[in-house]
Amino acid sequence: MTGSLQKNTGTPTPFDVFLGAVSFFQGSSDINALQEELGNLRKAKELLHTIIQATQDAIYIIDENAKVVLVNQAYTRLVGLSEEQLLNQPATVDLAEGYESASLKAMATGRPIREVTMRVGPAKKEVIESVAPLILNGEIKGCVGVMQDVSVIFRLSEELHRANRHLMHLESKYSFGDIIGTSPQILESKKKALIAADTDVTVLLRGESGTGKELFAHAIHQASIRHNKPFIRVNCSAIPESLMESELFGYSEGSFSGAKKGGRIGYFEEASGGTLFLDEIGEMPLFLQAKLLRALQEKEIVRLGENKPLMVDTRIIAATNADLERMIRQKKFREDLYYRLSVFPIHVPALRESRDDIPEIARSLLDKICKEYGRATSDIDTSAMEYLQNCAWGGNVRELENVLRRTVINLPPQEKLLRREHINDAVGTIPPADYQSLNGHVASLGGYEELKNAWEEDLIRRVLVQSNGNRTKAARALGISLRNLYKKITKYHLDALGRIE
Ligand SMILES: Nc1ncnc2c1ncn2[C@@H]1O[C@H](COP(=O)(O)OP(=O)(O)OP(=O)(O)O)[C@@H](O)[C@H]1O
Ligand SMILES: [Mg+2]
Repeated sequence: MTGSLQKNTGTPTPFDVFLGAVSFFQGSSDINALQEELGNLRKAKELLHTIIQATQDAIYIIDENAKVVLVNQAYTRLVGLSEEQLLNQPATVDLAEGYESASLKAMATGRPIREVTMRVGPAKKEVIESVAPLILNGEIKGCVGVMQDVSVIFRLSEELHRANRHLMHLESKYSFGDIIGTSPQILESKKKALIAADTDVTVLLRGESGTGKELFAHAIHQASIRHNKPFIRVNCSAIPESLMESELFGYSEGSFSGAKKGGRIGYFEEASGGTLFLDEIGEMPLFLQAKLLRALQEKEIVRLGENKPLMVDTRIIAATNADLERMIRQKKFREDLYYRLSVFPIHVPALRESRDDIPEIARSLLDKICKEYGRATSDIDTSAMEYLQNCAWGGNVRELENVLRRTVINLPPQEKLLRREHINDAVGTIPPADYQSLNGHVASLGGYEELKNAWEEDLIRRVLVQSNGNRTKAARALGISLRNLYKKITKYHLDALGRIE
């Protein structure tokens, strides 16, 4: 074929063929391009359709004849009518009686309508609607509308409000209402705390571990005029000594290697206007105690690496379960700081000092735990409660909460009543009462004799509870004679179940 084409005999020359081929390919490239464009358009339409369908907002489109041509799933769901009931129907099909169609208005005026309230569908649901006319080459070709459920908007705005409140109170979670108990001991502590809340006085919360000191600190801040300002908790035992100064007082740029550019403010400044809760104050290193004293007395701090003092308006609440008096004797705590902190001490009672509160606290804890685990146990029977009331509770409310938590986890899910036998296992895992009570008494008792008596009383009480008031059994368990046991029961004024008479 190549040979014949090379001859010029009136038949198409290779050039003609080339041109023909070029024009053919040119034509087909137009078609290809058109096809490609069509394909793209189809894809774009599908994509648009998918997007409209997937959108959470309810969307509809009306054509130039004021008929519904498209609705998405969110729309049918919101209005409560099916696609069949809506498509090709007049634009007013979804309107509840007495309402004017926003789409017709937008199409009549050629102007968008923003956020009007409507009622739509059989359920007359309240919605907020926005409509935009579709204008092509100066002609109105229909309109597109978007609707939102008013109840959802309300819910969201409520959530936003709550989130804002939560942010403001992020660090201060509890109020006085969360401190359960009506025993004279706890009432006395609450009374003092309420007085403290009315002033800016420095408070020192004292009490054994797990008695609720942190709860009191939160409550005082919440009830104070500073409640809308920051509440910052610093656990002095959790911050490494080397970092404590910069964490508390801040530092200037270049004050130590690794210091941030521009320096950083410390907790004192961060809590300015609000409350700084210095938890475990007994763990504050000696070298910082002087600086803390100055902050308390002069209301000024000095950032690490600077010498210019800064005024701060920070209220201090401190807490400790340590024997500060002994620490002073051991030169581990500054006496001047101790007196400055002790302007307004509040003693938070140990659970064994306020046994009358145990039923109420136990019930409230049980309620909280069951809600957390989705359990139905709603009450504690008499013998279980008596038992709980007579335990040593060296770990106080925290220990009681742990015992109840373990008990609830081990209960059959449908069990409504927490009984005495359910608790046994849980208490078995607590360290011996004698050891705990020794710890608990160190802060409040001085001499060897008193400590020994406290230990003995707790031990006897616990054994009596465990033997269910059977004194022979209790004496045997203690390895003492029955006579000796009676003597001790009288000495500590205990009844058969180890309760104080
Ligand atoms: N009176 C109370 N009513 C209700 N819950 C309480 C009460 N006292 C303490 N609790 C709860 O017991 C747990 C321990 O309380 P908290 O952390 O305040 O103790 P703490 O005195 O700070 O102990 P620690 O010295 O070990 O830090 C918390 O879950 C707290 O909510
Ligand atoms: Mg604490």
